[in-house]
Amino acid sequence: MAMSTARPSTLPELQRLLVVGGGGREHALAWALGRCPGIETVWVSPGNGGSGPHQAAVAEDDAEGLIHHCREQAIDLVVVGPEAPLAAGVADALRAAGLAVFGPGADGALLEASKAWAKQLMQDAGVPTAGHWAVDSEAQALAVLEQVNRPLVVKADGLAAGKGVTVADTVAEAEAAIRAAFAGRFGNAGSHLVLEERLSGPEVSVFALSDGERLVLLPTAQDHKRLEEGDKGPNTGGMGAYAPAPLLDATGLEQVRRSVLEPTLAALRARGIDYRGVIYAGLMLTDDGPQVIEFNCRFGDPECQTLMPLLGPELARVLQACALGRLDLAPELSISAACSACVVAAAAGYPESPRKGDPIRLNLITDEQRQLFHAGTSRDAAGALHSSGGRVLAVVAQGDSFDAAFAKAYSGLEQVDFEGITYRRDIGHQVRTDA
Ligand code: AMP
Ligand code: GLY
Repeated sequence: MAMSTARPSTLPELQRLLVVGGGGREHALAWALGRCPGIETVWVSPGNGGSGPHQAAVAEDDAEGLIHHCREQAIDLVVVGPEAPLAAGVADALRAAGLAVFGPGADGALLEASKAWAKQLMQDAGVPTAGHWAVDSEAQALAVLEQVNRPLVVKADGLAAGKGVTVADTVAEAEAAIRAAFAGRFGNAGSHLVLEERLSGPEVSVFALSDGERLVLLPTAQDHKRLEEGDKGPNTGGMGAYAPAPLLDATGLEQVRRSVLEPTLAALRARGIDYRGVIYAGLMLTDDGPQVIEFNCRFGDPECQTLMPLLGPELARVLQACALGRLDLAPELSISAACSACVVAAAAGYPESPRKGDPIRLNLITDEQRQLFHAGTSRDAAGALHSSGGRVLAVVAQGDSFDAAFAKAYSGLEQVDFEGITYRRDIGHQVRTDA
């Protein structure tokens, strides 16, 4: 529809926003956007216990319901947080209804929703990434493994809520992962696999905002995927993060812009994809330079919570300009030089079977340098707060050093309690002198 993808000559009025999603990432986005000058209201849908009065009870994949809400509330800009609605074409539906939307369409979301598609794109674009084989039968996968005879990384092609990857230490382990995938371990996501050479090196996340033609880079971040201290235990959605990640300095980040982000955007355009949203590159810093481990089509969670306090008041305009394909009209995004620390408090039993429904006691005092972002929380009819998901909330803090930022985050966590609260004490161990 012409109105939705046209590139206007000026940025229109921006007062009323809708953030789609219900996690910690969306709480942080709504908080950061609500601080921008001129923004009157930020709705969150479906939101969580931290959403406040502008929480709309519309599911993140209910495009019709979201369009209805946007019309009723005269929403100027929609920001879609999670990958599932993006992959399902929710941004396309909203754009077709004439709305300005930050978030790629289903075509661009394939960067995350199909690892085989993303690998092919990287290969075509010359983006550094591990060698791979895309396979769609167990026999084919086992034949590749037998021939290569190395412990390959086994990845479900489709969205698997962060659980679709097995980094095998032995060929036998890789074989077991292949058999499990074809036995239905990831549902349909596992009927196609990508087998990949195993790389090694520290990991860092790079986030770029795209208007389909241009890119703005955000500070780098480092996530902590494992449940337990010492980076042990099962993989999770992320137990904490910090930003910026000193592993990649300004020169390194510029190199990633040229070797990864610009070629990826060009390859998307070459496929006719007008990508307006976040390109999140998960990188491994190998001896041969940065290599892409995965792309995501959205902000990381909890990296987003960590990054938002570092971004300036231009953010809302910048996201609007991306949505409208006119980043050249946006003010420059200012970025704080502070260190930002984020620690996630999860429920007992996370990630397999988190306990839910426990009352949450909050005595935390937030200020300019400390934020509380809700994730798996909800309120009962009387307004009392309960846990309702695996990752319950996150405390984020900033300081002149990572030691100061983490000290402030951890002292904040002492003011939060619920039955079975679980968090890692060693988040940021890479950059702290006391961990
Ligand atoms: P993902 O769920 O795609 O984020 O992958 C989970 C984790 O698997 C990544 O964060 C890496 O630690 C690891 N991983 C993925 N691909 C590779 C690879 N080719 N070599 C080594 N580790 C990998
Ligand atoms: N924290 C990792 C992710 O959002 O994919």
